[in-house]
Amino acid sequence: MTQRLELSAPAKINLGLEILRRRPDGYHDLNTLFATLDVGDSMTLTARGDHKITCRVHGAELAADDSNLAVRAALALQARLPDAPGLDIEIQKRIPMGAGLGGGSSDAAAVLMGAPHVWGIDVERAILGELALELGSDVPFFLIGGVALAGSRGERLEPIDVVLPWHVLLVNPGIHVATPAAFASVGRTGERAAGDLKGALLAGLADAAAMRDGLVNDFEAAVFAMYPELGHIKRHLYEAGALFALMSGSGSTMFGLFETRAAAEGAREHFSGYWTTVARFGDAHSSASSASSIERSE
Ligand code: C5P
Repeated sequence: MTQRLELSAPAKINLGLEILRRRPDGYHDLNTLFATLDVGDSMTLTARGDHKITCRVHGAELAADDSNLAVRAALALQARLPDAPGLDIEIQKRIPMGAGLGGGSSDAAAVLMGAPHVWGIDVERAILGELALELGSDVPFFLIGGVALAGSRGERLEPIDVVLPWHVLLVNPGIHVATPAAFASVGRTGERAAGDLKGALLAGLADAAAMRDGLVNDFEAAVFAMYPELGHIKRHLYEAGALFALMSGSGSTMFGLFETRAAAEGAREHFSGYWTTVARFGDAHSSASSASSIERSE
């Protein structure tokens, strides 16, 4: 019996990101607002008759070995599930890597959710959450998707049930920002008070000025100092009519929110030469929808 599952691994943006304090374990406590988009990588998972994990990647220079977070997710599941067989992973990369859009983390979460389906093994949600955090701080969010406020390293999640109406223009200039270096250059020593990111987002539904006042990304100053081009892109997004513009994660993707698709597409024309895309916000996962896309062949 073989089972295949086709699933999408959506990109995320951080609508706000505050670095509260450095922790004794070397990580930082964050206060961040995550949101998935309706663009992302496509993945196909197929159960194998043996115990091998294979991975083929299209559309990007990404190693198919265990430096790839999707492969590490499959290995982590196998280590936890004695009966787990092997897995063939095929990834069509569409999310730029090292870009603050969570591409690798989303691929890993897709494997954590999808592989147990194709294997016909039930795994407790709490175990998936544990494995997700071991793989990376952004991975637990991708197990839920949608819009969520996150604390701690990113794993303490409060889903926010809201439909965000904006069209999102993503602009990536191809700069690779290493996340640990970005944290180091922010150099958080003391403690920073957490802002009301959820309140600013919800107020922004009525008046975008509330987002400009209340949603910040603490990486921006340090990362813009290293790569001034990113600050220019932010300014150009506003000049092109964005209601709100910010850097996602530790960069280098900048995003602008627009009222209409036409406005977002019009602004996009100002950024020829960069990787750009126009997206909508994505839905939170429901287990029913992921199960419905399973193909079975006996
Ligand atoms: O968890 P992840 O592997 O994605 O983190 C990459 C690096 O980013 C960590 O090694 C750490 O330096 C930094 N990080 C952090 N605090 C977080 C998340 C990441 O310091 N909450």
